[in-house]
Amino acid sequence: MHLTDEEQQMLDGANGPAVQKAMQILVALGEGFGAKRLIKTNNVHMAGSSVLVAEEAGTRWVEDLRAQGGNFITRVTTNPTAVDPTQWEEIGIPESDNKLQIRLTDAYAGMGANTCNTCIPYLVGNSPRFGEHMAWGESSAVVYANSVCGARTNREGGPSGMASALTGRTPEYGFHLKENRYGKFLIKVETTLQDMTDYGTLGCFAGKIAGQDTPVFTGIPSDPTLEELKALSAALASSGAVSMFHAVGVTPEAPTLEEAFGGNEPEKVYVFDDAEKAKIEAFLNKEPSDHVDWILIGCPNASVQEIREVANALEGKKVHEEVTLWVTTAGSMYAMAERMGYIKTIEEAGGVVVRETCPFLARSRVIAPKKGYKTLTTNSAKMAFYAPGQFGLPTHYGNLPRVMQAAINGVWE
Ligand code: F3S
Repeated sequence: MHLTDEEQQMLDGANGPAVQKAMQILVALGEGFGAKRLIKTNNVHMAGSSVLVAEEAGTRWVEDLRAQGGNFITRVTTNPTAVDPTQWEEIGIPESDNKLQIRLTDAYAGMGANTCNTCIPYLVGNSPRFGEHMAWGESSAVVYANSVCGARTNREGGPSGMASALTGRTPEYGFHLKENRYGKFLIKVETTLQDMTDYGTLGCFAGKIAGQDTPVFTGIPSDPTLEELKALSAALASSGAVSMFHAVGVTPEAPTLEEAFGGNEPEKVYVFDDAEKAKIEAFLNKEPSDHVDWILIGCPNASVQEIREVANALEGKKVHEEVTLWVTTAGSMYAMAERMGYIKTIEEAGGVVVRETCPFLARSRVIAPKKGYKTLTTNSAKMAFYAPGQFGLPTHYGNLPRVMQAAINGVWE
């Protein structure tokens, strides 16, 4: 792989051991994927920010890089952690995770990260621009950035994100190259998509087919909401390893079907109709009984608009006494929702608005038995896909009105 003089100097250690290590990671990665060179980036979203992922060894690795003089030279935002810093104890998060998380978050902050600790960096100030080369982790955000924003990023892990943040470089391969961004197969949407849960269901369907390939959708309404597109992005990256999709007439690199496929023919054509939608909904509804105990809204993290919808559903009502309702979001979304009075409404009804973590990145295998949770009820296809395998909770899956009804009545109807 070709390196510029400046990059070679970094590799030779001229900028210190942290940068040298970072350059070694990028060169190994680039050579592994056949990149011809490194390209400049000024935008990293760091995936390895939860101690559930980093544990003690990963935390020490980040601390060591900081101790060696590591300093982020790009914009860096961080993914959710394992801890809500304001109420970890009440919601069942182990103290050991809180202690370790403080160390890890401090180490990132000490190198210059904006520790927003959310999977929706594009809603908290890290807004990708069309064509921008980035090094983002967090699969749902990667799909959103590539597809909805037209930015260019591969799915980075913690070490490669760290390496890009320390050097301002990322290897040029995969989704950085236009020729790799075209669609491979077509999905004709022939059913009504009414809300973000329907978009998640579509994403789960397409992800199961896709593997790592890029789907192209036709039949998606021309005016989906941001929340619907984030639900679609998240589900695509859960049931599959998708990094990008095109929706003809909606996403910026798909003004026409021809442009979405780069002039090629789709390798396969699938139809997403009422029957396929019902099959995916049944697949994501793993819990046969009507028992409800833990409810999750906010995967990906809830926007202010979603928090508002939860607050509206709870106005003058109470969450059932045997149900715990989590709405997970970013600190800055929380602050805005607090100003709007939504947090007060949710909390007075007995719900919990959780910041900076979610059941996937917190230690749910400890939280659930401690709190007696036996199921997870959610409007998120991503969470419904992961919960049974990841932390052993069978799921109820449905749209927000249905989930909120379960929160109030205490049964899944
Ligand atoms: Fe975000 Fe956690 Fe879902 S990181 S996308 S809320 S699994």
